Amino acid sequence: MNVLVLNGPNLGRLGTREPSVYGSTTHDDLVRLCVETGKELGLDVEVRQTDHEGEMVGWLHEAADAGVPVVLNAGAWTHYSIAVRDAAAQLSAPLIELHISNVHRREEFRHHSVLSDIATGVLAGFGVDGYRLALRWLAGNQG
Ligand code: DQA
Repeated sequence: MNVLVLNGPNLGRLGTREPSVYGSTTHDDLVRLCVETGKELGLDVEVRQTDHEGEMVGWLHEAADAGVPVVLNAGAWTHYSIAVRDAAAQLSAPLIELHISNVHRREEFRHHSVLSDIATGVLAGFGVDGYRLALRWLAGNQG
């Protein structure tokens, strides 16, 4: 099964970005971790990152058309982007909303997500291990 892991704004700066919140794993490390975890689980995982909302919307359309499940860390868009929500709402396969940090222990504006009520499930606060957890769940719940 193909799986898309889509990371939104500022996640390309993992490793140097606020390491006390997001850890020291770089985005390149994260790509390797996801692809290798996918191989162990029999999944074909592709990881993408963008700082451009329109590009993310396009990738979600692509996933919707292909019927591919998505692990989505929409970063700050999580909290306000109706465009990303509307694109994600078109997915027919599972959508996992993921956050590296526990957004509920952080600033009030991070407590609200425009994605959670359309997501199959939400993972937050497990660091980059959350990506492994999401892939493991997808591998065990293939349509
Ligand atoms: C994040 C949490 C968001 O609030 C933040 O804007 C991010 C990353 C996380 O992975 O913890 O960019 O989605």
